Amino acid sequence: MYPRLVIDIKKLEDNVKTLAEITKDDGNCSLMIVTKGLCADLEMVKMLAKRPEVDFVADSRIQNIKSYSKIVRDAGKKTVLIRIPMLSEVDEIVKHVDVCFNSEMETVRAIDKAAAKEGKVQDVLLMIDLGDLREGIFFENEDEILKDAMEIKDMKNVNLYGIGVNLTCYGAIIPKHENLSKLVEIAGKIEAKTGLKLEMVSGGNSSSIYLIESDKMPRIGRMPKDEKMPEGINNLRLGEAFLLGNDTAYETEIPNTHHDAIKLQAQIVELKEKPSLPIGEVGVDAFGEKPYYEDKGIMKRAIIAVGKQDTDLGSMTPVDERIEIMGGSSDHIILDLTACNDDYKLGDIIEFTVGYGGMLKLVTSPYIDRIYVK
Ligand SMILES: Cc1ncc(COP(=O)(O)O)c(C=O)c1O
Repeated sequence: MYPRLVIDIKKLEDNVKTLAEITKDDGNCSLMIVTKGLCADLEMVKMLAKRPEVDFVADSRIQNIKSYSKIVRDAGKKTVLIRIPMLSEVDEIVKHVDVCFNSEMETVRAIDKAAAKEGKVQDVLLMIDLGDLREGIFFENEDEILKDAMEIKDMKNVNLYGIGVNLTCYGAIIPKHENLSKLVEIAGKIEAKTGLKLEMVSGGNSSSIYLIESDKMPRIGRMPKDEKMPEGINNLRLGEAFLLGNDTAYETEIPNTHHDAIKLQAQIVELKEKPSLPIGEVGVDAFGEKPYYEDKGIMKRAIIAVGKQDTDLGSMTPVDERIEIMGGSSDHIILDLTACNDDYKLGDIIEFTVGYGGMLKLVTSPYIDRIYVK
């Protein structure tokens, strides 16, 4: 059935191997793969479970972790919840999550209680906000960080597994030697104060990779040559780099990764020659926006059966470079096939590579089928 995602498990597996060479071999970091970008697709998870390079499998949603915790744990790897937990999900967390990320002591206390009921010790990682201003205890509030660490140390059913930071998400702040060094410094202070050894100092997501391989990354003007990962960072959490091969700090492609492991295929349901300019008074489109049209004369226009309800038009690129996306509505995308001569007919399949936003929407749409290349 169309529309469908073609998920190339072999290419994703190649990406794991390449990323492991960077993060583990060159960067001395453990490898955490984040599965939310493909909505914890089980074929992908089974592949991850088999790869010896993968140490942790993480997601932001407890439902996703629940769906695969057995597969991951049976393979000797740990599950990680990377979104700060809701108070309402602590009972589920202590059952299915091996390490959970936290920034609120009230929640950690609730986890302590839930873990006691479950008869386990729950590993937690404290998130530190280094300036991206999403989750975490603000790095300048060292007293709060150390106080929280001491309180966790005294808890019976919670273990302080480590600290971490998330960058390049809300504030779009790029990881640098300078800001990540603050995380390492804070880890040292926590260890000195509590006497605990922190297992994990997690230095971010796909935007941190360039710090390990900065001399091997494709050069773009803005990317600094001499930035290095500070010693003491021992984990990275990779989603987009794994799924799409992207370095998200400077928007380059990570060498030797596949960027087309996930593709969208959609079918042409109408193919006609029509003018490029709509006829009549222009109001607003199906999404309440005032459209702008360029007069290109008569065009060959195709409608494919997938729409804004399923994907993000700005986050998909036709594989055939002659095709242009003109726009769309909830259920239709209109393509300009004028440059394609007579190469397409009704019923043909148009293929797209996808960006992160488009991929997220496509995997969560119940109208999009999936097939796998293995
Ligand atoms: C806390 C956290 N860590 C890691 C990731 C992975 O980010 P990326 O896909 O940029 O590697 C995300 C987002 O998915 C996140 O929220």
